[in-house]
Amino acid sequence: MSIFLGVNIDHIATLRQARGTPYPSLVEAARICENSGADSITLHLREDRRHIQDQDVEELKHCLETKMNLEMAATDEMLKIATHISPEDCCLVPEKRQELTTEGGLDVASQINRIKEVCTELSTNNIKTSLFIDADKYQIDAAVECGAPIIEIHTGHYANASTAAELNIELEKISDACEYAHNLGLQVNAGHGLTLENTRAIAEISSIVELNIGHSIIARSLFVGLASATSEMKQLLKEARGL
Ligand code: PXP
Repeated sequence: MSIFLGVNIDHIATLRQARGTPYPSLVEAARICENSGADSITLHLREDRRHIQDQDVEELKHCLETKMNLEMAATDEMLKIATHISPEDCCLVPEKRQELTTEGGLDVASQINRIKEVCTELSTNNIKTSLFIDADKYQIDAAVECGAPIIEIHTGHYANASTAAELNIELEKISDACEYAHNLGLQVNAGHGLTLENTRAIAEISSIVELNIGHSIIARSLFVGLASATSEMKQLLKEARGL
């Protein structure tokens, strides 16, 4: 079964925002990723606009040849933007102002009514909702209750494991959660903290449809270029699936 690669280009915008220059261009970056094997382009419009700007979302929507996966908090402001832009997918994430990156999965179970409302509103606008959650059956059940068609399993704890034993525990948790969600009819994606070193074991989980990877690809692109950094990762995903 094929596996798709979503490239998160937030940190191209981080570099641009560091100097307030018009470059590097997100449109050009997205085009290079798409031409190098990316199956979708992911971007996170944060409430503090630290990297991706509203105009980026507009511009990219017009020129992407694959599809847009817009990550956002489940706020009224973001919902308004998403329904205006109409990305193919919207991934709901928790957001804290001071965090360096998304730190954990969304607690869907504690806000079922609100998340259900957001999923319904997005689905009415032909946008598929993905819920970024920890590898936890309780949260998966909650995602089903909200009517989300997709979940993205948070792989950050796996990526941050400091011992081989911890790594195996986290991998097993992810693998069990993926199978559980897949059997409930959800599309299962995963991502966060994935690198050329740790992605293979995750990509070998056959129920995973898409991996969203950003920081390691953009970091590696400094040395090998964005096209190679993207195609290397795509190649790794294919090999993990015996393709
Ligand atoms: N998936 C989600 C929901 C995220 O928030 C992020 C980070 O923006 C990623 C995937 C990609 O994580 P990384 O940049 O560590 O590859």
